[in-house]
Amino acid sequence: MESKSQILTAKDLSKTFSNDSVQQHVLKNLNLSIYKGDFTVIMGNSGSGKSTLLYALSGMDRPTLGTITYHTVSSSEKGDKTIADTEISKFSNDKLAMFRRDHVGFVFQQNYLNDSMSALDNIMVCGLLKHSNRKELADKAKELLKRVEIGEGDWNKFPTQMSGGQQQRVAVVRGVINSPEVLFADEPTGALNSQNTENVLNILSDLNNEGQSIVMVTHTLKAAERGNRIIYLADGIISDEIDLGPYVGDYKDESNPNLEEAKARHAKLKDFLQDMGW
Ligand SMILES: Nc1ncnc2c1ncn2[C@@H]1O[C@H](COP(=O)(O)OP(=O)(O)OP(=O)(O)O)[C@@H](O)[C@H]1O
Ligand SMILES: [Mg+2]
Repeated sequence: MESKSQILTAKDLSKTFSNDSVQQHVLKNLNLSIYKGDFTVIMGNSGSGKSTLLYALSGMDRPTLGTITYHTVSSSEKGDKTIADTEISKFSNDKLAMFRRDHVGFVFQQNYLNDSMSALDNIMVCGLLKHSNRKELADKAKELLKRVEIGEGDWNKFPTQMSGGQQQRVAVVRGVINSPEVLFADEPTGALNSQNTENVLNILSDLNNEGQSIVMVTHTLKAAERGNRIIYLADGIISDEIDLGPYVGDYKDESNPNLEEAKARHAKLKDFLQDMGW
């Protein structure tokens, strides 16, 4: 079997917050690699450091100690591929912002769309940071919007004129408009009702099936089931992880042709989480 290539490697990662004279060690010497094509899920109790880890890995914030090295592949005009190692943990704010623009995408619990811009413009603004051809970018944005079932009639709506679920779908499109190496998501369905949750999870699964690498933090079993690799964080360290294999559909859906496998997968995840004291 061909081994998966690494997108990034975090080594001896520590994050300490200092408030007044009190120091809080939130990440403690954590080591982790993220692999291409994976849908990695990070779980753990509230306060265990999941968001802090996600922000460090994605270059939203810097670790106190340790390194984060991205192994980015670039192709020459001749088509030769080279892998460049980029260690981002000590980048300046500007350099980090550039790095994020070129290599990562984000979706958060709140969609953080700009309310003074249309849905399409929210995506365009993000895409124009990287693309120079406006027409090509607009075509790509519209294609993606259609894929998440936001039709032409809604493209020029402002976020406040859209439902929470629609807004989050726009946010997912914005997250992938620059074809990021990794899409980071911090509880992306945390503020959605069950129908919209299903919807957004389906979109993430589809993107992953097409090769988009995803790292998602979640509190729910339903969302975690979408991942193929589940990592459990406790008190700033990785307790354990399991390989679940790819998502094979809903374990409760009697029409699912992979029902037995889906049930087994669900049971495996539940057992794992129980072992973790979840
Ligand atoms: N900017 C900050 N300044 C000070 N303390 C912080 C900061 N960010 C996070 N913390 C602390 O670090 C700890 C871990 O926070 P983090 O947000 O990573 O947890 P989490 O696992 O994502 O929790 P939740 O599931 O509730 O979102 C918490 O105790 C939090 O108070
Ligand atoms: Mg969090």
